[in-house]
Amino acid sequence: MKENVLRNVGLIMDGNGRWAQTQNKPRLEGHTQGIITMTSLIAHAFDKGVENIMCYGLSTENMSRPTTELSHIFDLMLDIYEKFVTMMTEKQASVVYVGNLDVLPGIVRASMQKAQNALNKFKGSGRTAYIGIAYGSRNEIVNAINTAIDSGERVTESSFLSSLDVPIDLDLIIRTGGERRLSNFMLYQSSYAELYFSDKFFPEFTGDDMDEAFDWYNNRKRRFGKI
Ligand code: IPE
Ligand code: IPE
Ligand code: MG
Repeated sequence: MKENVLRNVGLIMDGNGRWAQTQNKPRLEGHTQGIITMTSLIAHAFDKGVENIMCYGLSTENMSRPTTELSHIFDLMLDIYEKFVTMMTEKQASVVYVGNLDVLPGIVRASMQKAQNALNKFKGSGRTAYIGIAYGSRNEIVNAINTAIDSGERVTESSFLSSLDVPIDLDLIIRTGGERRLSNFMLYQSSYAELYFSDKFFPEFTGDDMDEAFDWYNNRKRRFGKI
């Protein structure tokens, strides 16, 4: 069977809190495990030939969660720095953080900037991880519209895509945690994405589970409106 090319993957990493509950642990433990899972899944995706992966870490709407939960997630981002940059260096991949980063604590922004700089040399390698923090697709779209208005230039479908923070058409979106919705994730870029939903909670989602999603994707008939 002819294989579908898989270049661009979106990952909606949902179910951290519920996973922790199943382990009789506090919600925060779910995020602790989740960020480790994210790091190994990014590596796995690159090993499988994926060029761009966008990981949905925190939505615009998530930013109104309790401060204790958000602070814990920010601490985890600082803690994972070395491990993350080492993995990305091994894979020769660059990172781009997207979202309303201005609302994040300065120390977190500085660490993101440091990671981006450290991996900047891999920009032309064809492997990029986008990480959405305080990211919302509607916000991304509205910002791009306002930029276009300010420039006075009309947009085309493809120039508009290029002007988005994550300027890639998604081939496949994987959402863990059992919900079948996009929750403000890459609305423009998902026009013809294949949607894969797993009932597994994110912390327990493994490389083998990702392979299952990739196999499923391979067997899709992507018609793009044609017959
Ligand atoms: C996804 O897990 C990660 C974030 C949104 C930060 P949740 O925190 O949403 O976990 P559940 O869905 O409540 O189990
Ligand atoms: C989606 O998860 C956002 C991320 C995974 C970052 P949510 O837990 O916020 O989504 P809803 O509230 O179930 O739609
Ligand atoms: Mg959730």
